[in-house]
Amino acid sequence: MKVLGGSASPLLSSRLAKELGATLGKVETKRFPDGEGYVRIQDDLEREDVVLVQTTRSDQDIVELLMLQDAVHEFRVRSLITVVPYFGYARQDKLFNKGEAISSRAIIRALQAHTDALLMVDVHNLLVLTYFDIPVENISGMLQIAQHLKDAGAEVVLSPDEGSIARARIVAQACGCSVDFLQKTRIDASTVKIATKVLDVSRKKVAIVDDIIATGGTIFEAAKQLKAQGAKEIIAACTHGLYAAGALPKLEGVCDSIVSTDTIEGETSAITVAPELAKAIKNYS
Ligand code: R5P
Repeated sequence: MKVLGGSASPLLSSRLAKELGATLGKVETKRFPDGEGYVRIQDDLEREDVVLVQTTRSDQDIVELLMLQDAVHEFRVRSLITVVPYFGYARQDKLFNKGEAISSRAIIRALQAHTDALLMVDVHNLLVLTYFDIPVENISGMLQIAQHLKDAGAEVVLSPDEGSIARARIVAQACGCSVDFLQKTRIDASTVKIATKVLDVSRKKVAIVDDIIATGGTIFEAAKQLKAQGAKEIIAACTHGLYAAGALPKLEGVCDSIVSTDTIEGETSAITVAPELAKAIKNYS
């Protein structure tokens, strides 16, 4: 088996290769002066089972992944599993207004053309899985997050909204913590309101768990409540640390620590989802 990593997932692809006992292939990526991308696979993939890993945080990541799939397709590979650890556009999962695109569906249609199966991690809405015509699986990073929070001594797990309580419950159960949730209303893309709720957090180490941190508005408002109610320590934990401009410094002002998984590689991605991905990939072989 060969694992190939796109330029958005160098660390996770090498960790995954290690977990699978597979070889990490060499991929060259570069950009022409006009901004167009270029990819070249430097290994021979004839008759190989290939795992291609690329997070699609930006449009450039998506184009690079499509080109990598095309390059893999040029070899007579035995199978190709595409791993999209963070699947961008997942929040554009349905029509909100007439005339819009269902953006996640548009991208899925392109991505599924040249792969046998596709894996994602903690996709924002499971509805997007229904847009696939090929085998697709959503892998949870919550058990890895739970292990990290257990080691950090978290006592309470908090979901910032009721919609994410299922994920928070998994984490709380795995680390032996109590669980609660807040009621969030999104005003616009960068503003959220969180209703006041009395929580049992006084003098406790509390972990706020979410799938995505984007602008940081959700965690910021939740953390402010926890501080006001006397929480001893606040840990913000998420699968996908997107961090729009200014999000991290804003959160550092209210949280004691911020941690994410390596679906998006960056300064907070201390947790790896490679073991869970490897388990799922082994089921396909
Ligand atoms: C929303 O439903 C998600 O689960 C996250 O809470 C949201 O994407 C976080 O966004 P932000 O960091 O911009 O508040």
